[in-house]
Amino acid sequence: MAKSRTTVFFCQNCGYESPKWMGQCPGCREWNTFVEETVDKKSTGKVKDERKAAAAPVCLSSVKMEEEERISSGLEELDRVLGGGIVPGSLVLVGGDPGIGKSTLLLQVCRKLAGDSREVLYISGEESLKQIKMRAARIGSFSDQFRLFCETNLDVIQDTIRASVPQAVVIDSIQTMYSENVSSAPGSVSQVREATAVFLQLAKGLGTSVFIVGHVTKEGTVAGPRVLEHMVDTVLYFEGDRHASYRILRAVKNRFGSTNEIGVFEMRESGLEEVQNPSEFMLNGRPEDSSGSIVACSVEGTRPILLEIQALVTRSPLAVPRRTAAGMDYNRVNLLLAVLEKRLHLQLSGSDVYINIAGGLRISEPAIDLAVVLAVVSSARDRAIDEKTLAFGEVGLSGEVRAVSQAAQRVQEAKKLGFTTVILPQACREQIGDVKGIRLCGVRTVAEAVGVIL
Ligand code: TYD
Ligand code: MG
Repeated sequence: MAKSRTTVFFCQNCGYESPKWMGQCPGCREWNTFVEETVDKKSTGKVKDERKAAAAPVCLSSVKMEEEERISSGLEELDRVLGGGIVPGSLVLVGGDPGIGKSTLLLQVCRKLAGDSREVLYISGEESLKQIKMRAARIGSFSDQFRLFCETNLDVIQDTIRASVPQAVVIDSIQTMYSENVSSAPGSVSQVREATAVFLQLAKGLGTSVFIVGHVTKEGTVAGPRVLEHMVDTVLYFEGDRHASYRILRAVKNRFGSTNEIGVFEMRESGLEEVQNPSEFMLNGRPEDSSGSIVACSVEGTRPILLEIQALVTRSPLAVPRRTAAGMDYNRVNLLLAVLEKRLHLQLSGSDVYINIAGGLRISEPAIDLAVVLAVVSSARDRAIDEKTLAFGEVGLSGEVRAVSQAAQRVQEAKKLGFTTVILPQACREQIGDVKGIRLCGVRTVAEAVGVIL
């Protein structure tokens, strides 16, 4: 007979399951993340199901398409990241480092929803009613449709939600919730999974939108949100430097919209404020007349964002010179430096090279290549680039400048922010034609681009 209770080892970072303890997780390559947990085979994922529809296969043409109803969260930036608003019955995971502003964001959403006379329930397992009240006082006044509940017992929470059927529920955080059916500690992989399964059933069964807060931890003491990414409809990550005031909300997975969309917020005294024009925000405090700085344009989702790329090339006292890349891929930087050495005969082997994307954004788009290359050349030659010049384009291994998508949009954004010259791939230049009020310099190679501005 099969045993109903077994112990399994779970990687607390990614949820990898193993019958034996292991030092390194084969799934995510993290060390010392395995914790033994008792799994009650009968209980996992077993929840009262509201919908008992006898489903039969149907043909696609008979499926009715209805215009999905979306509820505005009151924050335009969040709505866009969600794909146009909150979808009723969706399960949204909001992940991020502790203290980044997850509770604040969701409290603001609750305030707006409750203000629109929707029933909202905020369940906190982390803070007392008083603490939440204190935070809420900074944000503003709340209507009585907004209800608070400090509870961590999953059964009690489930009954409460079923009894009141609110339109939105916030779970802060999933790592504090526990089910009596599962014997491991709150925050462990099996508890987090069980709790998410319960909320999934509730969301789909009652049509309630559920927001789950999940902390990201590096120590692996509580299970990270990666464990439940596959179970939810939408995964949002809150990023940003805790010491800087802005925060970036990024969709990593979205069943109701595009990923790669970002929302930019600023943490103020009275909660999170939307940043309508992130380019302006990112370019704040740019140095004037300094070498090694140029502005690039990256498209995040549907929106172009201008960013300052900084490079510093200095003589290195080391045998193996240092290379650092903050905000972009380290290997990409090495590749671009190799292109410069080979194609422009720029001697960099005796120099330390530091690359920084000012503002702390992380960009993976190759469209910033050209700007990185130009910033390095500018710093190496110690000659400043005109500050009203912007560059974008992908750089290939032969030093060619390749076309990128949405070039016209990038040029428009540059024009909007008062730039006078744009260095762009020749292919994009031909495609766009002339734009009034801004000089467009199409270039085919890196050498040509350097010739234009230095
Ligand atoms: P919080 O939402 O508690 O973070 P999380 O839930 O992700 O752990 O945010 C906490 C930080 O935000 C804290 O350092 C204080 C700051 N904060 C403000 O600066 N202004 C505000 O109006 C609020 C509510 C918080
Ligand atoms: Mg919190």
